Amino acid sequence: MGTMHRIVFGDCRSMGEIPDESIHLMVTSPPYYNAPFDYPDLFKDYGDFLGLMRDFCKDLYRVIAPGRIACFVTDDMLVKGEKFPVVADTTRAMLDAGFRYRDRITWVKPKGYVRISRRSGVLLQHPYPMYYYPDNIQESILIFQKGKFDYSYAQKLSAETREKSRIGVDEYNGEDWYLTVWNITNVLPFGERLEKGIAAFPEEIPRRLVKLYSYFGETILDPFLGSGTTAKVAKELGRNSWGYEINPRLRTIIEKKLGAGGGGVAVKFSTRGTRARGNKGSGQSGKG
Ligand SMILES: C[S@@+](CC[C@H](N)C(=O)[O-])C[C@H]1O[C@@H](n2cnc3c(N)ncnc32)[C@H](O)[C@@H]1O
Repeated sequence: MGTMHRIVFGDCRSMGEIPDESIHLMVTSPPYYNAPFDYPDLFKDYGDFLGLMRDFCKDLYRVIAPGRIACFVTDDMLVKGEKFPVVADTTRAMLDAGFRYRDRITWVKPKGYVRISRRSGVLLQHPYPMYYYPDNIQESILIFQKGKFDYSYAQKLSAETREKSRIGVDEYNGEDWYLTVWNITNVLPFGERLEKGIAAFPEEIPRRLVKLYSYFGETILDPFLGSGTTAKVAKELGRNSWGYEINPRLRTIIEKKLGAGGGGVAVKFSTRGTRARGNKGSGQSGKG
């Protein structure tokens, strides 16, 4: 079965291109407020960031199908010595928009890749109480739901769709998916890589979430698409996707990441105010 991937260059605060209740799963990672290396001064202040989250969550409620799931990969952020409660405030914005809070998974990155920073190194210079500033190797995967899932929907799907959506029990047990702590290596900052300069998440995160919360042939949304990781994983798992990205310069990276599909995979790019362009069959997008 072919899949369709639509990418809109525009602000996800309003996703007017997406019909009501047509999204079966959202997987995303919004900008981490003004994260020092990735997004310094992206927002005027923290209130500006919260305004985006609140507006976006409202439109998200409109596009998500009843009973379905929305996942955020995010973390509290230390900016100029002050820690901002992004996880709590994202949760509040989602609850206020009408979603139920369902789970929080802690994503733990391997400690081997973190060098002792100037922050945590303070204690080595002053090995006394009150000099403790730990290095962070975790993020939260926040999971929300729009109402409750109607399990009779799943029973009515064709035997083929159910089979193609089956979750491997070996992965589930062997990789500890059943726990609220997931140990997954982050995208490492070494050598030439497509995600350079983009705070990309590893494919393994959307891969697990797409398998756990959507059926084969359904539609996945990533409103903060970045390099296109979620769209790539959706394509590989036989799901359709929508993506929003405010930075049009990421188009070539997204094109490369989605790569040649074949087999009826279609990719359409559009920019707010212009008509969608793309081609079907090759998996390569048209230049526009
Ligand atoms: C943390 S990155 C996402 C990275 C992505 N998960 C990946 O694997 O490449 C957040 C992205 O959101 C984009 N962005 C920021 N504000 C936006 C907005 N209002 N609407 C759409 N995209 C936005 C940024 O340009 C950035 O590429």
